[in-house]
Amino acid sequence: MYAYDEIDRTFLSERVAEFRDQVRRRLNGELTEEEFKSLRLMNGVYLQLHAYMFRVAIPYGTLSAQQLRRLAHVGRKYDRGYGHFTTRQNIQFNWIKLAELPDAMEDLAEVGIHAIQTSGNCVRNITTDQWAGVVPGEIDDPRVWAEVLRQYTTLHPEFAFLPRKFKIAISAADHDRAAIKIHDIGLRMRRNDAGEIGFEVLVGGGLGRSPFIAKTIRDFVHARDIISYVEAVLRVYNQYGRRDNIYKARIKILLHELGAERFAKDVEAEWAQIRDGMLEIDDAMVDDIRSRFRYPRYEQLSDTPQELAKASDPRFTAWLQNAVAPHKVPGYAVVTLSLKPIGGTPGDATAEQMDAIADLADRYSFGELRVGHEQNLALPNVAKRDLPALWRALDKIGVATPNVNLISDVISCPGLDYCSLANTRSIPIAQELTRRFANHDLAAMIGRLHVNISGCINACGHHHVGHIGILGVDKNGEEFYQITIGGRADEGAEIGTLIGPAVPYAEVADVIEDIVEAYLALRAAPDELFIDTVKRLGVQPFKERVYATR
Ligand code: HEM
Ligand code: SF4
Repeated sequence: MYAYDEIDRTFLSERVAEFRDQVRRRLNGELTEEEFKSLRLMNGVYLQLHAYMFRVAIPYGTLSAQQLRRLAHVGRKYDRGYGHFTTRQNIQFNWIKLAELPDAMEDLAEVGIHAIQTSGNCVRNITTDQWAGVVPGEIDDPRVWAEVLRQYTTLHPEFAFLPRKFKIAISAADHDRAAIKIHDIGLRMRRNDAGEIGFEVLVGGGLGRSPFIAKTIRDFVHARDIISYVEAVLRVYNQYGRRDNIYKARIKILLHELGAERFAKDVEAEWAQIRDGMLEIDDAMVDDIRSRFRYPRYEQLSDTPQELAKASDPRFTAWLQNAVAPHKVPGYAVVTLSLKPIGGTPGDATAEQMDAIADLADRYSFGELRVGHEQNLALPNVAKRDLPALWRALDKIGVATPNVNLISDVISCPGLDYCSLANTRSIPIAQELTRRFANHDLAAMIGRLHVNISGCINACGHHHVGHIGILGVDKNGEEFYQITIGGRADEGAEIGTLIGPAVPYAEVADVIEDIVEAYLALRAAPDELFIDTVKRLGVQPFKERVYATR
């Protein structure tokens, strides 16, 4: 966890006071909604179908138990008793009253949480691997570098009015859990031949109406140069990004129009002017930031404790195999908490659940939690001997469904239930899928399979990069859904391929079942993942199966 200093705390409280005054002026009519809009958007406040929506950042997905308790309090006191975890390490509150928002912000600021730069055309919350700092084999803790960049880009005047929003993600492990290839800038940490750390820089990934996988524009930027290099990218974007057309304003379009080579050349030219200047990072600054991350004092524990050997409940065993991952320290494990209960809304947690999870984090995970891009939570530091007791507690509060990475671990946007831009509902489709695949043995037999759902082309539910993607489209006022397969968001990121004409709401779950049945019949071996079967055979056999009866 990162500890803020006095300057950070003063800044946050001044920011709340400023917003309180803006809200006061809006409420008494001094400001129109139009005038208020840019002010609220600087503070993560959107206007949605039914109410204002408040998006709060969880930098690099790390939360303390105390912070989670405070989020629970905001959900309980100012919202309808829950919060919604998103795909970019944020939490959203959908029902907050404008008059109460400054109070909610003040309560959050007390524990170092805020919503600055969670909306607007600026550098958004910089995300990273939810297992950062605990996963074996990581090059360095990417959160340190996310924090370096967060400090640099936050409220930077040159980057406050970019052509469009700007998203950066960082990964430092072999397996990319941060979806860096669908970000405006993706940074993959690596070492050069001399063993020094730095980043491969990928630019121009993004979903929405024109999806692109990011392209590498430089294989290695030394870590000490990462601020100046990112600045060079932002400068080129600021200068040439399309401000005339909102649909063409993201950096992915600029990269596509210029070509990666030319874009990279422009960045190099810009970088040459600034790389040896004041933006070079000195070790003392990184050491200072690093020292503010709190790392647990791990004990020397057995990696095969008796408590585990003795546990025989098959439900526990299923969970152990599904939700528990290796930790870099022997005797410890990383535990994912599924926010995808059967029939539930993906990513939702009630205030009671959040409070209970915070208590469990205190008891079993050195008071620390993580939020991942799949809309689940994690306890990053659990002693293996505590796993049976932890499982019982998680099961009681409904966050131990053993479906992590399985077909019912659906990523979904809010769709028509909340969103003013939606064509269709997303959440009820997700709920139906979790019910259809509620049988754990069946889901486990199917194996790793990510279903992602968006209620419109803005792609908040990452449908393009779902192994199965579901996109809601409007057809003469009716809800239809396009189905893609073969997408993925990890190191092998790809955009999925459309299998055929859109299908009506009532048929979506049947179509997914058909696709799964086709896969089970087609896979070369039980351990060939869905995504690999699609890669091997293409979409045709799946298409034939789905449309044979439609
Ligand atoms: C309900 C209120 C929401 C609204 C109005 C909204 C609106 C939008 C819009 C307009 C875009 C496209 C912007 C662009 O490409 O330039 C977008 C992108 C995105 N949204 Fe949302 N969103 C909402 C909620 C959410 C939620 C709940 C999530 C997570 C579950 C989410 C995750 C994302 C992500 C990850 C993208 C980026 C996709 C990309 O790379 O292009 N949004 N959103
Ligand atoms: S994908 Fe569309 S419907 Fe879903 S939250 Fe984003 S803007 Fe709304």
